[in-house]
Amino acid sequence: MVKICCIGAGYVGGPTMAMIAFKCPDIEVVVVDISVARINAWNSDRLPIFEPGLEDVVKGCRGRNLFFSYDVEKHVAAADIVFVSVNTPTKTRGLGAGKAADLTYWESAARMIADVSKSDKIVVEKSTVPVKTAEAIEKILTHNNKGINFQILSNPEFLAEGTAIEDLAKPDRVLIGGRETPEGQKAIEALKAVYAHWVPEENIITMNLWSAELSKLAANAILAQRISSINAMSALCEATGADVSEVAYAVGKDSRIGPKFLNASVGFGGSCFQKDILNLVYICECNGLTEVANYWKQVVQINDYQKSRFVKRVVSSMFNTVSGKKIAILGFAFKKDTGDTRETAAIDVCHGLLGDNAKISIYDPQVTADQIMRDLAMNKFDWDHPQHLQPMSPTAAKKVDVVWDAYEATKNAHGVCILTEWDEFKKLDYKKVYDGMQKPAFIFDGRNVINVEELRKIGFIVYSVGKPLDPWVKDLPAAPPS
Ligand code: UDX
Ligand code: ADP
Repeated sequence: MVKICCIGAGYVGGPTMAMIAFKCPDIEVVVVDISVARINAWNSDRLPIFEPGLEDVVKGCRGRNLFFSYDVEKHVAAADIVFVSVNTPTKTRGLGAGKAADLTYWESAARMIADVSKSDKIVVEKSTVPVKTAEAIEKILTHNNKGINFQILSNPEFLAEGTAIEDLAKPDRVLIGGRETPEGQKAIEALKAVYAHWVPEENIITMNLWSAELSKLAANAILAQRISSINAMSALCEATGADVSEVAYAVGKDSRIGPKFLNASVGFGGSCFQKDILNLVYICECNGLTEVANYWKQVVQINDYQKSRFVKRVVSSMFNTVSGKKIAILGFAFKKDTGDTRETAAIDVCHGLLGDNAKISIYDPQVTADQIMRDLAMNKFDWDHPQHLQPMSPTAAKKVDVVWDAYEATKNAHGVCILTEWDEFKKLDYKKVYDGMQKPAFIFDGRNVINVEELRKIGFIVYSVGKPLDPWVKDLPAAPPS
């Protein structure tokens, strides 16, 4: 029986391995992690991550051929194929700080694999890593060589949170990169055989290691670029009276462009986009490609601009100050159908409002109060470390209240900001929300989920990203003087 071990039981490792075990009853899959709490949660009825459909897949094979364990070394030693899916934070100090990937966790995983291995292994990069990481890992593994043959493969994961199970069950493509040697090709074939249990052969693409590593960064950069492009248009729509949803619809009808990933928003978040682009920028700079680096940097800059533009709209609409005013935040996760808050736009928006002395009341159907408080107290880039190693800034967030109901959050509020497109925010009783609020009642939709006309009829002053402006907002400058 082929044995797979995956190091890292996070958003990528957990669901991906569960799908492999589910589809391949003849393969034993063990997911290991240094976090005992995480492993215990994977073994319990309350999985550590919220992902539609995940529970059924895990329950379908846990204890059969899917296991979760914190005995990392034992299971790595026994495996034929080792996936590595550990954290790759952005460096916060030293060379490349603020851009380059910190490969501390990766390196320690590689050293551990070298130490404990007694048989040949295929080592698979699953978490997104900078181009040429495989080369570094190869060096660590082969320099500790005890006559063992290690083959490194790059097998980047393309799943998106919220739709992970669908994405894993029917991937657009599976990408496998490896060395162009007979041993490398043999390793590629072995991994291909795993995916071939359920993915049609023509959707399994093989290539060299560097192309596979770069393809993942390129895909994320291009997806993020589409969002920054439509978000840049949203600012122009507000200035001209155009409607960004109409523009996106018209543009997306062109079959060369396509309709997906053209929703204007308060800004993209998630663990990948910003990190991967900063990585790409750093690699370009290291290769002397300044113009290329600056081109991609702008995608992140527009995203930051979009978040601060949103905060400025809120403040300027509300008589240029939100000091002492209650603002309700509906949605804190970086997108709907996940409890993940990594790099969510909500963090920056809340910081902006708190900076102007607002009192905020937050409701998200999946994010815990504890997580929100941690996020608001954390320094930039510190989120991407195993939780027990996350450094915290000394002062926890003040003036923040987390509640478990949208009506509670909006009660007595002066304004409401919608920051995640949860379906339930489309169906709220907005008359009830309005009646409970201070007047004039403001609503700022960062996700284009509400019906602007209906809310205006109720009496709200409405701002919705990229939509024609409310007469109230229109007469104000787009941003208060700084
Ligand atoms: C992304 C990639 O899609 C996935 O292939 C890769 O493996 C990991 O990174 P993820 O971050 O989970 O996945 O979610 P995604 O659906 O890409 O959304 C990222 C962010 O962009 C979210 O904050 C989302 O709200 C935002 N977004 C997305 C928009 O603002 N507008 C859009 O049209 C689409
Ligand atoms: P991703 O979204 O890429 O899956 P996560 O942060 O959700 O990232 O998961 C990474 C996991 O890797 C964490 O649960 C962390 O505890 C684990 N991890 C980090 N370093 C090691 C290591 N050396 N050995 C085992 N697990 C590790």
